[in-house]
Amino acid sequence: MPFGMNSLSVFLRNHRVHLMFDTLSQLPADPILGLISQFSQDERSQKIDLGVGVYRNTQGHTPILSAVKQAEQMLLTSEHTKAYIGPVGDAVFNRSMAELVLGKQHTALERMTMVQTPGGCGALRVAAELIKRTHADATIWVSDPTWGNHIPLLGDAGVTIKTYPYYNFNDHRLCFEAMFSCLEKVKAGDLVLLHGCCHNPSGTDLNTEHWQALVSLALRKGFVPFIDMAYQGFGEGIDEDASGFRLMCEQLPEVLLAVSCSKNFGLYRERVGAVGVVSAKKAIVESHIASIVRGIYSMPPSHGAAIVAAILSSEILRPLWERELGEMRERIQQVRKELVSSMNTLGAEGQFDHIARQSGMFSFLGLTETAVAALAKDFGIYMVASGRVSLAGLNPSNINTFCGALNKVRLR
Ligand code: LMR
Repeated sequence: MPFGMNSLSVFLRNHRVHLMFDTLSQLPADPILGLISQFSQDERSQKIDLGVGVYRNTQGHTPILSAVKQAEQMLLTSEHTKAYIGPVGDAVFNRSMAELVLGKQHTALERMTMVQTPGGCGALRVAAELIKRTHADATIWVSDPTWGNHIPLLGDAGVTIKTYPYYNFNDHRLCFEAMFSCLEKVKAGDLVLLHGCCHNPSGTDLNTEHWQALVSLALRKGFVPFIDMAYQGFGEGIDEDASGFRLMCEQLPEVLLAVSCSKNFGLYRERVGAVGVVSAKKAIVESHIASIVRGIYSMPPSHGAAIVAAILSSEILRPLWERELGEMRERIQQVRKELVSSMNTLGAEGQFDHIARQSGMFSFLGLTETAVAALAKDFGIYMVASGRVSLAGLNPSNINTFCGALNKVRLR
């Protein structure tokens, strides 16, 4: 007899059955993604979404880039098969991504294994599995604070995670000395996860001297840098944003990389990314990544990576993409300046200046969780509980409303 809810309850009363899912309890929503549904359930027309890191234009939309649309049109006619792509993905995509992150002339190109993955998350997870395979007792050191999904994503692979100090919430600056002295204690073979640019959540990046100091430290201590590059082109520019990573690949024998095309190509839902390893053991490393991928999801989806490959190898689409990426970057830089200037005009001089000197999509407002909750409840303004805002959610039609609400909450 098929079970409905009622007949199932009767059945369970009359039979002793072991139910495997009875041991589970309801989990809270994801701290970042849960904001999507909270925001959509809010019926106020003036509501503002500063939650998930998704680019929005001045109209509040997340458009498909013209370069992407044109590449998709090309693919519609040129794609000739839907046969399996294989665990390491598309060779043209992998080569193009290696050249994008390293630049076309970099000496590490010949040591770089690049493997297409389902988004930057897929890349991080595959890298964590690789670390576990090669160095089961290694620790991955992540910045405090770091992106909310780093610890679940890497930790669920069974790798130990520890944190190093990175951001001082009092002065809203990098605390490099504290970071450096913590990393002095890292053991050889451990991994140090660094954000290549546009640190998520703090917007506070390492400068060239910091990168150089970390290269020397890595050489001295024997740890391996693991760079998460999710925002290349959103900070200062495509090459500028990769400069720290390129420096490390020049001077160190081994570097790991997780790269995402979600933001810089606007391909969020297509899940496009790549895992990279710089090592002299290129073929061996690639064979292990292929076997890890085969054991988890067998092979990556094709469409998004085919778009990226088409754009990066086209003399027409690549400059178009670079222009569109530049427009996204400049818009966010402009929002940062306007936010600071409005808050200063409202009497909060100096309190938000850090936002104008930071880069990428995110900054902390420096609010308590209570203030963040009040912004959501009283004004329909949503952000991560830590007070991290995705600045692309602000535009000319909502920035004054936002600053007014922020000022009220700040003064309570
Ligand atoms: C974010 O930090 O908001 C984005 O990277 C989206 C995500 O998956 O968390």
